[in-house]
Amino acid sequence: MKRFITFEGIEGCGKSTQVKLAGDYLTERHIPFIVTEEPGGTHIGRRVREMLLNKAPYDSAGMHAETELLLFFAARAQHVREVIRPSLKEGKVVLCDRFSDATIAYQGFGRGLDISLIRLINDFSSGGLKPDFTLLFDLPVEMGLKRAMERISSNKVMPAEDRFEGEALAFHSRVREGYLSLARIEPDRFQIVDASKDIEAIRHEVCVHLSQFTSERL
Ligand code: TMP
Repeated sequence: MKRFITFEGIEGCGKSTQVKLAGDYLTERHIPFIVTEEPGGTHIGRRVREMLLNKAPYDSAGMHAETELLLFFAARAQHVREVIRPSLKEGKVVLCDRFSDATIAYQGFGRGLDISLIRLINDFSSGGLKPDFTLLFDLPVEMGLKRAMERISSNKVMPAEDRFEGEALAFHSRVREGYLSLARIEPDRFQIVDASKDIEAIRHEVCVHLSQFTSERL
């Protein structure tokens, strides 16, 4: 059974909502699972996340691309060892909101850092762990950014974009192209989901994919 499942996509693609709905699907079927995210997922990872996204008390507006890359890897190293591997070892399904593909898409394609170097350090950071299955929520960049901005302005507590949401359209277009090229390289691992559809249609599609794994278990 495929148990390490990652959810990827550009800003505003709706993957975080779908991770939660996928969790509901597994709960209904009494399948043990955890939901986790990158950067984050551990105490250390959440501190690194605040730094990376430029959340108070940090002021990381001047962060260099190389610093950013290594912080994502630091958060991942902790996350894999503290949360993901132990959960997989206990037989749980791990639903992870972003993982290594995000680093290639954002820091590789988006920031222009060397992709072969990213793959090398990623191997060290993740201890060689790879997702069994990756859902890529794909939609036009303009649509994703519009959704992300609507979500930000409806947030009464923190109506501010993070460091990535504030990037130019060209950056997000490169990230989208990066994800699509990763999906082309590994078609067996990736499943592209049309994220311009409504939440319920996407939920249904995600559940169809999950049901393939869960029936393998029976
Ligand atoms: P989120 O908004 O999906 O929670 O992700 C946080 C941001 O971090 C998002 O803009 C994508 C970015 N990110 C990277 O740039 N590289 C990575 O390796 C990961 C995991 C996330």
